[in-house]
Amino acid sequence: MPDWISGRSRLFAEHYDLKHPEPHPGEMEFLLRRVEDGGEPVLELGCGTGRMLIPLLEAGIDASGVDVSPDMLDRCRARCVEKDLHPGLYLQGMQTLDLPRKFGTVSIHSASLGVLNSEDDLAATFNGVYELLKSKGVVAFEFQTPPEPRSIMDRAGVWSGGWDAADDGSVIVYRQIFEYDPGTHMRPSVIAFERYVDDRLAETELYEGTMRFWEIETITLHMQAAGFIDMITTNVFADDEPPGDNQWLVVRARKP
Ligand SMILES: C[S@@+](CC[C@H](N)C(=O)[O-])C[C@H]1O[C@@H](n2cnc3c(N)ncnc32)[C@H](O)[C@@H]1O
Repeated sequence: MPDWISGRSRLFAEHYDLKHPEPHPGEMEFLLRRVEDGGEPVLELGCGTGRMLIPLLEAGIDASGVDVSPDMLDRCRARCVEKDLHPGLYLQGMQTLDLPRKFGTVSIHSASLGVLNSEDDLAATFNGVYELLKSKGVVAFEFQTPPEPRSIMDRAGVWSGGWDAADDGSVIVYRQIFEYDPGTHMRPSVIAFERYVDDRLAETELYEGTMRFWEIETITLHMQAAGFIDMITTNVFADDEPPGDNQWLVVRARKP
């Protein structure tokens, strides 16, 4: 079975774009404040189809994106061309960053850090970001801490899904199922997509992929080991609201 991260993901990218067209309330403002702190250019890791990157470019910010999926990047590129925007788009993993320039600000959105399944990959990502940042540069990302097992276990092993009308009039049906291991905080899942044209099945894609929920202590350890300072964790998109027991958080830190 192909891995959703590296396999064909054309339907996945199209569906992602349909479901996630724009920044969440407060998200772009939070990012722009980080860009004020860290400066340009900006790099987004796991930029997907450009949900954050495109509004950033439209605001006149010099921004680039990295993603491991050629289909996500193709879609992002096509949306940029339509708008006469020309970001650097790089096909590479966030844990193996190798880019030709330095950045003032590096961001990660939608808890995409969860695509990293091992502490080695987490360390490699933070080391790579540190290397790519200019002095005084800023890294900021949203992430999801491990859920309370009771809040997730009753949905594990149960198919869920839905359907959406695509731009070309076809219908994309999706269904997914996941397992959760409260010991490792790993959530392996399978997602199936089907496209129906005139009520007939025209295309299918199937993925498996594992998301891992990272604890703030583990993130802190690896960010400090990479050399980051002034690390601050807050509620999503707030600059100074303490995290409380929310599962979705944002972290920001700086290179000395
Ligand atoms: C949840 S989507 C987020 C897309 C976009 N950042 C957003 O907020 O809408 C996660 C993205 O990370 C990409 N991705 C998965 N593994 C990756 C890796 N190791 N390095 C870089 N990108 C990765 C996926 O292809 C996908 O586009």
